[in-house]
Amino acid sequence: MLPSPEAVLTPSAPIALDHQATTPCHEDVVTAMEPWWSEQWGNPSSRQHRLGLTAAAAVQMAREQISDCLSCSAEQLIFTSGATEANNIALLGHARAIARERGQPGHLISMVSEHHAVLDPLRQLQREGFRITLLSPEPDGLLDPKKLEAAITEDTQLVSVMLANNEIGVIQPLPEVAAICRDRGVTLHSDVAQAFGHIPFDSKGLGADFLSLSAHKLNGPKGIGALICNPGLTVEPLQWGGGQERGLRPGTLPVPLIIGFAKAAELARSDLASRRRRIERLRNRLWEGLKQGQPSLLLNGHATARLPHNLNITIAGVSGSKLHRALRSQVACSSGSACSRGEPSHVLMALGRSRQEAEASLRLSLGRSTSDGDIDRAIQAINKVVHQLRHKA
Ligand SMILES: Cc1ncc(COP(=O)(O)O)c(C=O)c1O
Repeated sequence: MLPSPEAVLTPSAPIALDHQATTPCHEDVVTAMEPWWSEQWGNPSSRQHRLGLTAAAAVQMAREQISDCLSCSAEQLIFTSGATEANNIALLGHARAIARERGQPGHLISMVSEHHAVLDPLRQLQREGFRITLLSPEPDGLLDPKKLEAAITEDTQLVSVMLANNEIGVIQPLPEVAAICRDRGVTLHSDVAQAFGHIPFDSKGLGADFLSLSAHKLNGPKGIGALICNPGLTVEPLQWGGGQERGLRPGTLPVPLIIGFAKAAELARSDLASRRRRIERLRNRLWEGLKQGQPSLLLNGHATARLPHNLNITIAGVSGSKLHRALRSQVACSSGSACSRGEPSHVLMALGRSRQEAEASLRLSLGRSTSDGDIDRAIQAINKVVHQLRHKA
C-alpha cells in the first residue's frame, strides 16, 4: 500500500535541502494543469473535432511560451518525458545519423563529471563502435576549454557539456565551448536541466545546437521535458509511431504536463532575479554557518561560478554512512545525484576527492520554499551531528 501524503509530511519532516533531485510542483502549476486532465481531455493529434483542436492550440501556446523563455523558435522544441530522453535523442539520434552519412562511427567528447543521462548513452554509443573521450574537470569542477580544443580530431562529430552540474552546481563556460565547436565544425549538445529557470541564459547566447530540459527541476510536473534542436541537424528517431514531434518523439502528447511545464517556465522567468538573490543569500549563510562550526570543511566546486541554490561540502574525517544515517531524520539532502545508484559520487572523485571523502559529502540544494529558519535549523543539525561523530570516533 502507498503511504498517505499525511504520513510522509509529518510536522517533524526533515528540512528539505534536496531541490536538485526534484522540486515540488508550484500551486499555480497544479491549477494551470487542472482543466486538462478531465474537462479538456482531447488528443492534440485529433484534428477533426473541437476537443482535439483545443488541446492542439493549448500545446502550441505552451510550446511558444517555453521557447520564448529560451529565445528560440517554437519549431525547435520537441517535447520529451524529461532530460534523460532529450539527452538520448540528441546523443544517440545525432551520432547515429552522422555515422550513417559518413559511413562509419566517429568520435564524441564529453566530461567525466556529466550526469549518467549523458554518460550512459555515450557508453551505448561506444558499444556501437564510436570513440568516446571524457575530459576531466579542473579541481574546481570547470572545464578548461584548451583541453577541449586539444581533444577535437578530424572525426569528432559531437561534444556534450552540461551548463550547470547537478552535484556541485558549477556553471561551465558554455559560450567559450560553443565558439570552439563552431570553429571546428562540431555539433554541441548541452544538458541544461539544472540551469533552466535558475540562472538567466538564452539558447542563442549559449550557442549550443541541442539543449535538454526537464520541468521537474523548476517546480513543474515530473515526466515532461524538451529537446531544443537547431534547424538543419540530422537526427535519427529512437522510436517510431504516430509521427508526433516531427517524428522524433512519436506518441500522444501529455497535454496537462505540457501546460504545467509552460506555467513553471513562466513562473521561473517572472521572479528569477529576486529568487536568485534571496536563495544565494541563504546558501551563503548556510556555508558560513557550517564553516564556523567546522573550519576544516571543504567546498566542492568553484566558489562563484555555481548555481545560487547549490552547496556541496566534504566533511573530512567522518564516516559518510554514519553522517547520512544521523542526518536522515533532520535534513533531506544527498551525497550526490539522485541517479547515483548508491556508488560514491563520480563527480567528486573527478575533482580529486578520495572515495571516503566523496562518501562524507553533502549536496545541499535550496528551493523556493527554503526559509531563514530552515537554514538556521540545518546549520544547527549538521554541526551537531558532525561534532557527535567526531567525538565518538
Ligand atoms: C543534469 C541532469 N540531467 C538529466 C537529469 C534527468 O532528468 P529527468 O528526470 O527529467 O529525466 C537530471 C535529473 O536528475 C539532471 O540533473
